[in-house]
Amino acid sequence: MDELKIPQHVAVILDGNGRWAKKRRMPRKYGHAQGAKAVEQVCENAWRMGIKYLTVYAFSTENWKRPEDEIDAIMKLFRDYLKNCLEISRKNDMRVRIIGDRSCLNEDIIKVITQLEEESKNNQGLNFQVALNYGSRDEITRAVKKIAQKIENGTLRSEEINETIISDELDTCDIPDPDLMIRTSGEQRLSNYMLWQLAYAEFYFTDVLWPDFDKKELEKAVAFYNKRDRRFGGV
Ligand code: IPE
Ligand code: IPE
Ligand code: MG
Repeated sequence: MDELKIPQHVAVILDGNGRWAKKRRMPRKYGHAQGAKAVEQVCENAWRMGIKYLTVYAFSTENWKRPEDEIDAIMKLFRDYLKNCLEISRKNDMRVRIIGDRSCLNEDIIKVITQLEEESKNNQGLNFQVALNYGSRDEITRAVKKIAQKIENGTLRSEEINETIISDELDTCDIPDPDLMIRTSGEQRLSNYMLWQLAYAEFYFTDVLWPDFDKKELEKAVAFYNKRDRRFGGV
């Protein structure tokens, strides 16, 4: 048998926390708490399998439409989760980066994020990205503004704009494009996730709800990836 191909970068849309809780007649925030545990697990499992980059979609720019008490519960979870992440990154040599517009997050969350990124920047283990207040259209809009600024102040000419210049202004600069995108909970859409970066990724959809996404499920996704024939426009 051929050796298993391990995707270098896996991007995950972790969906179904609310439905997972509902099935158990529990509040949605309980689902989010279980979802956070599943994120911890997937980091370990991904690294063990040889995945080098993992990016999870934790909160979208559209998720602010949710009821205030759910948002509060999610933000509280982030606080605890990010602090926990600091411990894990020290223990597992994991490098953590946050993508998305952090500017409108609470001061204390921004502080932990800055500390987390700074402290873990030379770590050699898993490259773990959390998409927080992330929306791909927002990310691209911010990138366009930065490019326009450079043209305005004369450090860039419009003829020089190419795909690399654009990629470099995205929150994911320095991070290779995902090879595999996983979405749980049966939904088959991108919900504004990494529209630029996922141009040639393979898409894997599963009905499993995020808190139930364990090692076996990750292995299934990688097995699916192995059956794909990636052509990148060639033959
Ligand atoms: C994903 O689970 C987590 C976030 C978007 C924060 P959901 O909260 O979307 O769960 P469902 O889709 O309602 O089941
Ligand atoms: C996508 O899930 C966003 C995150 C996982 C953070 P949603 O549950 O918000 O997406 P829709 O509303 O079903 O498209
Ligand atoms: Mg959802």
